[in-house]
Amino acid sequence: MPVFKTSFNDLTEFRQKGKSGRWWEILHRLYADYRLKDFPELIRTGVVGRKEVKKRVQAFFYDRADGICKGIRGILEKRAGFKGIFPDKPFKPLRYPLSPIFDKTIPQAHKGYTSISLVKRHRKNPLCQNKDFRIPITHILVKKKMMDLKAFRRHAKAIVSNTNSNLNIVNMQNCKIKDLLASDRAPAGMVHIAGWVRTRRDARNFSFIEINDGSCLANLQVIADAGLDEYEMVRKLSTGSAVEISGMLRPSPGKGQKWELAAEHVKILQIAPPNYPLQKKRHSDEFLRTIAHLRPRTNKYGAAFRIRSALSFAVHSFFRERGFVCIHTPIITGLDCEGAGELFSVTTLNPLNSGPFKGADVYADDFFGKKVNLTVSGQLSAEMLALALGNVYTFGPAFRAENSNTRRHAAEFWMVEPEMAFCDLEGDMDNAESLVKHLVSFAMAECEEDLALFFKYVDKDLESRLSNVLEKRFTRISYDEAVSILQKSGKNFKYDISWGRDLQTEHERFLTESYFKGPVIVYDYPKEIKPFYMRLNDDGKTVAAMDVLMPGIGEIIGGSQREERIELLESRMEKMGLNPAQYWWYLDSRRFGSVVHSGYGMGFERLMMMVTGINNIRDVIPFPRTPGSIEF
Ligand code: 4AD
Ligand code: MG
Repeated sequence: MPVFKTSFNDLTEFRQKGKSGRWWEILHRLYADYRLKDFPELIRTGVVGRKEVKKRVQAFFYDRADGICKGIRGILEKRAGFKGIFPDKPFKPLRYPLSPIFDKTIPQAHKGYTSISLVKRHRKNPLCQNKDFRIPITHILVKKKMMDLKAFRRHAKAIVSNTNSNLNIVNMQNCKIKDLLASDRAPAGMVHIAGWVRTRRDARNFSFIEINDGSCLANLQVIADAGLDEYEMVRKLSTGSAVEISGMLRPSPGKGQKWELAAEHVKILQIAPPNYPLQKKRHSDEFLRTIAHLRPRTNKYGAAFRIRSALSFAVHSFFRERGFVCIHTPIITGLDCEGAGELFSVTTLNPLNSGPFKGADVYADDFFGKKVNLTVSGQLSAEMLALALGNVYTFGPAFRAENSNTRRHAAEFWMVEPEMAFCDLEGDMDNAESLVKHLVSFAMAECEEDLALFFKYVDKDLESRLSNVLEKRFTRISYDEAVSILQKSGKNFKYDISWGRDLQTEHERFLTESYFKGPVIVYDYPKEIKPFYMRLNDDGKTVAAMDVLMPGIGEIIGGSQREERIELLESRMEKMGLNPAQYWWYLDSRRFGSVVHSGYGMGFERLMMMVTGINNIRDVIPFPRTPGSIEF
């Protein structure tokens, strides 16, 4: 190929003249591949400057890339029904279209999108000193929508392989072990991973290293050959050590794993000393709580926190799909939404300087000039937004200074709180039931591998319990009915049950686990045991409250239709010892266009307990806060 040859000589010449640099190299490769005949000629004769050439090469690339991009987009939209996953203007020229694959600047330039590059490898090109050098043909920006993205990558791969080109899909950054293990085909080039050593086993001429990078439960098995430059150090790798490895992915002859990585380069980032607390054996939950900063590196906790992340995403997707507006409610507040007095106060006063407390006045000198606390619920603020925007939800932390050391209570927990205008108690229960079902089915579909660990090792009944949640409509009974079932049960409860008393965990568990054998929604509770904002029923004795109870957990959701009639609301506040004047802005919503509305709060940790079968709230949140415990 004469053209090829010439260009080779040209490049060498340029180098010799001291005009070397990455740009020339790239241009040269382009030339070789695309026969951009006139470019080297133009440069050689000095007709155009470097800048101009760069512009023209980029323009050429953009045209080509746009074409490919459009083609793939068309096929995907037609064949796979992938409408809408591309941004409206699908291809925007990137700032560095010719950068090497692992250039981290590219994804960062497109927040909210993941960039997938189709690259061309230059294996046979003698100019490519580095055999892993790949030139991006096009970058496709895909909206970061978890489910679609995975499917998209599969389809894009299939299309690329159908077109019989030597294009290859590679992500810009380090490969995640999760993606590698899910590949149908081994990437043609080297892959690069970074993670922590779980175990190392040595044979005579090589070592097996199990690497976990946190992207999934499974480890990737790496084979490090004795011929590696770094092999001596590889033999020192201990559990917990950090490494970066490049190599070729190849089918694994081993049982239970599809791929393994044949290392070509191992970069040792840090060797963990022998006192690393997570050695290869099973540790008790109690012990792991004492090393909460390290426990995410175990299989169980890694899986739990990945599930937590997926569920958190699913909460947002559930409401977004239904047109709810996401709002952020304050953490610091002057009110006690639940009226239960379980408040953590927030102050900048130094108790050592302020002398004996002389009543509420002491707060006059405080930051806000009054007594304030951490919120126990975002509901009151959410109501104001619902009465303006229709349907809203807030998903944030709540704080309760309940000094109860139970496995279901934390001092800091996360709550999902929707609030719906023009919605009554029935609609509230319907929405709550759909949310729970959506979250369970999302976890079962998206977190299959992680959930399997819980099915197998944590709770043998979990899988059937979760399926049961999805299959049946939740039983709905009034508080009256619940009390009568409990009284007739003949069970010897620790807390007696009679009309007017709140249901205790043992009662909730009897109803869900023994009697109905599934989720139960109890509604219309006595007004005395519920907060002021719940709507008084016509019987004058009960309020339009509802609690969703789950087997194994008890109450997971508490909600109600809200009292929209101002006189009744004010009189209930007074009866409960609250000062309506303090709630003037809340009461304004009942003065100006008051409407029927409802909402509820779902404890996110309780949901996590339900989905994973983990039976202590301390183990479903990375750093739990419970009475006397705040080390981390
Ligand atoms: O039933 P609760 O107290 O309801 C409210 O706070 C309402 N203002 C919510 C609303 O209508 N917007 O709490 C709601 C849920 C409970 O069902 C429970 O799941 C969870 O929050 N929860 C706790 N979770 C962990 N630790 C605690 N200390 C909790 N207290 C409540
Ligand atoms: Mg409650």
